[in-house]
Amino acid sequence: MPSPADGQADLIAYLDFHTEAGVDVALDEQPHDRFTEADAPEPAPRARAAPARRAPVREAAHSSPPPPPPDTPRAPPRATFGRAAAAEPEAAAGDAREHARNAASLEELETILAGFESCPLKFTAKNLVFGDGNPQARVMFLGEAPGADEDRIGKPFMGRSGQLLDKMMAAIGLDRTSAYIANVVPWRPPGNRNPTPQEVAMCRPFVERQIELVDPELIVCLGAPATQTLTGTKDGILKTRGRFFSYALPGREARLLATLHPAFLLRQPLQKRLAWRDFRSLRVALDGKA
Ligand code: URA
Repeated sequence: MPSPADGQADLIAYLDFHTEAGVDVALDEQPHDRFTEADAPEPAPRARAAPARRAPVREAAHSSPPPPPPDTPRAPPRATFGRAAAAEPEAAAGDAREHARNAASLEELETILAGFESCPLKFTAKNLVFGDGNPQARVMFLGEAPGADEDRIGKPFMGRSGQLLDKMMAAIGLDRTSAYIANVVPWRPPGNRNPTPQEVAMCRPFVERQIELVDPELIVCLGAPATQTLTGTKDGILKTRGRFFSYALPGREARLLATLHPAFLLRQPLQKRLAWRDFRSLRVALDGKA
């Protein structure tokens, strides 16, 4: 006959199984299948594959504001808006668009984003991971979403992927004083799962406004999710990597380069040679030779 201790061991094994599978947070009393919920609207993509003109060169040496101490949540926003976390994704994406376009500076955009209550990821993340590096930089790197280290520290690309990204940037003479880094989704999805299409659609107006405010000459999309979100392509990253797209900014076009995500390179180190080719093209583009 099973004893209470057996039941407890089973329960622990069951929880361990879920934790290992990345299910480490309970969001609600009932499960939701977010993939069957209504798709958020798909605004026209901002980028297309075509050679773009480079804008005048800017160099500046601002550094990012000092990071909050690890494990310290950032200051609360002045005001919150949006709907409950389980909001209709379409309405939430509309709210996001309306508010994001009102931001006149990166600081304002961060405050607005911190008050955005419609994205359920906000409620499971420890910190908003807005951006890092030099907002005056000519080049902006974009990942998909923060992981556990970034969530804890409140800055993008802080863990193993970030260390590799720093080395890749250093190989072409860049660092966080000469580049700006952000993610398409600014909150860590629980258990490092991929953000759902609805979550991406809700966050997209904010990252689009962030790109407009940074106003980079070159945008580097790290991996398929960032590339697909910003260009509208459905192609996989092994097809799009190394390709320059044109990305529409107010009054001009920026160039957008797709390349491999450092997390992928950590799993498949042989593919670093492809990323190296892409980073060399990036250097050539920054030097104005292509
Ligand atoms: N992966 C990402 O896409 N972004 C981060 O900030 C960290 C890892």
